[in-house]
This record gives sequence, structure tokens and C-alpha cells, in this order.
Amino acid sequence: MPIHTLQSDNYTIEAGNIEESSFSQLLNRFSDSKKVIIVDENTHEYCLEFLITQFEELTDAEVMLLPAGEENKVLEVSFQVWEALSEYRVGRSDLIINLGGGVITDMGGFIASVFKRGVHFINIPTTLLAMVDASVGGKTGIDLGPYKNQLGVFNTPDAVYIDKRFLSSLPESEWLNGYAEMLKHAIVFSKTHWKTIHAKTPSQITEEDIIESIAIKNQIVLADPKENGIRKLLNFGHTAGHAIEGYLLGTESPVPHGIAVAWGMSMEAELAFKTGVLNEVDRAWIQSVLASHFPPLPDFTPVKQELLSLMTNDKKNKSGKVSFVFPSEIGQADVNYSFDVDAPVLESLFFKSSDLY
Ligand SMILES: NC(=O)c1ccc[n+]([C@@H]2O[C@H](COP(=O)([O-])OP(=O)(O)OC[C@H]3O[C@@H](n4cnc5c(N)ncnc54)[C@H](O)[C@@H]3O)[C@@H](O)[C@H]2O)c1
Repeated sequence: MPIHTLQSDNYTIEAGNIEESSFSQLLNRFSDSKKVIIVDENTHEYCLEFLITQFEELTDAEVMLLPAGEENKVLEVSFQVWEALSEYRVGRSDLIINLGGGVITDMGGFIASVFKRGVHFINIPTTLLAMVDASVGGKTGIDLGPYKNQLGVFNTPDAVYIDKRFLSSLPESEWLNGYAEMLKHAIVFSKTHWKTIHAKTPSQITEEDIIESIAIKNQIVLADPKENGIRKLLNFGHTAGHAIEGYLLGTESPVPHGIAVAWGMSMEAELAFKTGVLNEVDRAWIQSVLASHFPPLPDFTPVKQELLSLMTNDKKNKSGKVSFVFPSEIGQADVNYSFDVDAPVLESLFFKSSDLY
């Protein structure tokens, strides 16, 4: 398949075999610059060699190996990278290559953005989630305790290269994570995309599906890069999802971002229905599709106060209220549904989901 190019505001997203993309030309532009590749343990093992063997310009690149996992998307790890970049005398004209999932593209983008007030960086996402979501759109950042993405900046990469072959080593559970975000894009923006992907198993997801999902995100981000309006659509499932992810991060059973978002979408679809925004047929369709792909929703009732408290600290809120994105039907959604944290209707987030499974 030829390279498919999507234009974002000041950078391009190219999908296809990376050796046929503009990456070589980009590396030529940086031929006299230092190149730093940021990887985690898994992309070091499964993705780095493939990249370096394709591009001999990278053979002398400095590789920075970070520990894998969301719990490492933190200041302490970023600090160590900044120290290493400083020791390696990286400057503004040098290039950082983020080769990894959303943790690496979020944190690597943040590290690059604030180091010396901004070093060039590109994203080469290696998880489905990072391909369709995290690597595009210009949000970079790290977590602060149980609060997700509390430190960060909006800053775009010089380019994003999507090569589906990197997914060949991705465990099935990680595919599911990305699939949750693809379903989210479909629910808030495109019934056509929903119809194409909702019954697929993750391994049936095609490059065209990935490109379509990125195109939806890109279109929304282009309309509202700094999330003042329509971009909030991409937060469907994330008010509850981030609270769940943050809460469980500190326990013995953390859940990956995509699973938390899938649960969050089911909970928020219930709330959207109970407030009369989402119609009953589409609520049932959304919840049954999510239930058919993702692990059963736990009963969060015993920890609902903790979750609601985390939700009130969400970046999306104003004046102590809890805000949500609600679909009215599959393919259409609206932003800024806000409730007082003690509003009785919020109880419906914690609905008994056992009959879905
Ligand atoms: N910036 C944004 O707009 C945005 C959007 C959505 C999510 N995110 C962030 O993305 C993060 C989640 O991303 P993720 O799900 O990619 O997590 P991740 O980066 O932790 O990757 C998941 C796991 O897969 C491993 N991995 C990565 N590529 C692999 C490969 N090719 N083969 C084998 N293993 C591989 C990683 O080492 C990790 O263990 C969260 O921090 C979330 O907040 C950001």
C-alpha cells in the first residue's frame, strides 16, 4: 500500500512502510544533528532493531532506555532523561525520536518540549493506541500521583510515522487498549466507522481502519487544537476512565488506559441515557459491544466516593463540577455536560452491569 499522508496543522502523519515514507528525508535534514531514540524495555526488544536496520543514519543514535509502564510516566523518569540529554549535550537543533506506545510518545514529547525550551521530536508509535490516538494531536505530558497527565504542554511533533508492522509483537491485551480509543472516535464522530469496526476482533483491524481512526482524531484536533470546544469530544469515557485508571494505578490491580476508557464509556453511556441525552437503542448497542470485547466492569460502588473525588480533580472541570461528553446517538456527541459532585444522577455511573455479560 502506498504511503497515506494526513496533514495536521504544522506536521504530517504518514501511514505505511516507514522506509517508503519521508522519514529518510527528515533524517537527511538532521544529518549533522544528534539523534536520540527514546524506547522502553519492550520497544527496545521488539522495535528498535527493525528501525535501525532500515535507516543506517540511526546507527550512531543515542538510545535512551526507559522502564515500561504507565507508573513510569512520571517526573522522576523525565528528570533522568533530561540529565542524560544534558550530559549528551543535546541542543535545540537535535532530534528526539519517540519509539513506543503512548507512555513514550506522551513523556518523550513532554521531555523534548521543555528541554532547552524545545527540541525537535518525532513520534513513531508502536502500539495501536499510540497510533490512533496518543502520538497525534499535540498533547504531551506526564502523571502526578494518581492524577493523569497533570504536567504537560501542547506541542506538536515534527512528524508522525505509522507503520503497522510494529504491531506484530504487540500482545492481544494491548491491541484492545487501542481498540477502545478507536471505538471512542467512532461513537463521538462517525457511525460509518463504528459500523466498520465494532464487530472486529483486534487482529482484524486493518491499516485502513487505523488511518480512518487517526483521520477522525486529526479532523477534531485541527478544528480545536487547544481543547476549548469540540476537541473535548475525545474525552468521552475519560472522566470516569481516568478516575478508574488513576485510582487503580496505586493498587495491586492496575488497569491499562484503554480498558479503563472502555469501562468509562459504558458508565458514561449509562449516565447519558439516564439524563435523557442518549437514546436507549444506542446505549444498549454501545454497552453490549464494549461488553463483548472488554473484561467485565467491576462493581465500583464501594469506591464511588474515591472515584467521584478523582473525577472532580479532572482537568476538564470548571468550578468544582464534574464534566462529561455525552453521545446523543452513535456518531454524534456533545461536550460540557456538568454536574455537582453530589448530584443524585451521578449514581447511575455505578450501574449494575452484570446483565451485560
Ligand atoms: N496524548 C494523547 O492525546 C493521548 C491519547 C490517548 C492516550 N494517551 C496516553 O497513552 C498512554 C497509553 O498508551 P499505550 O497503551 O500505548 O501504553 P504503553 O506505552 O505503556 O504501551 C503498552 C505496553 O506495550 C508495550 N509495547 C509498546 N509497543 C510494543 C510493541 N510493538 N510490541 C510489544 N510491546 C510493546 C509497552 O512497553 C507497554 O508495556 C497513557 O499514558 C495515556 O494517558 C495519550
